[in-house]
Amino acid sequence: MPIPTHREIAPAIHYWGTPVVLVSSRNPDGGVNVAPMSSAWWLGWSCMLGFDASSQTVQNLRRERECVLNLASGDDAAIVNALALTTGSAAVPLHKKLLGYRYEADKPKRAEITLLPSTTVRAPRVGECRVHLEAVVAGIRPFATGDPRMAIPACAVEVRIVKVHVDETLLDGDERIDPERWHPLLMSFRALFTRGDRVAESRLATGSESAYAPWKRGPLVRLASKALGAVAQYRYGVEDEGGDGDAAE
Ligand SMILES: Cc1cc2nc3c(=O)[nH]c(=O)nc-3n(C[C@H](O)[C@H](O)[C@H](O)COP(=O)(O)O)c2cc1C
Repeated sequence: MPIPTHREIAPAIHYWGTPVVLVSSRNPDGGVNVAPMSSAWWLGWSCMLGFDASSQTVQNLRRERECVLNLASGDDAAIVNALALTTGSAAVPLHKKLLGYRYEADKPKRAEITLLPSTTVRAPRVGECRVHLEAVVAGIRPFATGDPRMAIPACAVEVRIVKVHVDETLLDGDERIDPERWHPLLMSFRALFTRGDRVAESRLATGSESAYAPWKRGPLVRLASKALGAVAQYRYGVEDEGGDGDAAE
């Protein structure tokens, strides 16, 4: 492959392409808030969510300690657009006003969303989405406090998934998602996409997916995995360094 010609730039945003998640949470009055966001990534059954700390969702997560991550697919773009530039905060933060945001008391109604009850959390699920991850809050940390370009208070919300519901047409076998059938909605530089064709066989996918889930195996494998995990934790486990308050530009 030819090497591209690179140019040094300072882009306004770093929205390189991440999945769109509709986070449902309960408002203080028991109403439902649904917020589109896309600074999300998963590791194991845990997920990190990057949020503007002024959002109503963050207030709800701090109080209720639970939510549902409704994963948007290409079919849900209209819902995402109906919710874009709205907030469930009655007092719209100034920086959001300047961006054209307005208060919306009943976001599910505005986006014509069908709410389904969850199994383990009080926040409901967005019926239209093909994947629902019920989750509990494991921790909320300030984010990018030392970044001079960060214009707003931001936070990283760590959640742990406790229940997974998927559209059964996505399944290949009992519990495996077929990547050919799952078309996540992706946000890249504020434009909405879904994915293209498979470009190559993946070397990472050589072994069985079950290797990622020793907790699903028999007692011996589970025990061996726990022992391996403890050794790895001892050798490689990291301490929380906290925020980098005085990072140089
Ligand atoms: C496609 C899309 C992606 C977004 N990604 C994020 C994000 O990653 N983090 C964030 O704080 N806001 C994101 N937003 C903006 C939120 O929707 C906005 O902060 C909103 O006010 C949240 O709703 P709430 O205030 O009712 O919680 C995104 C909006 C859209 C439409």
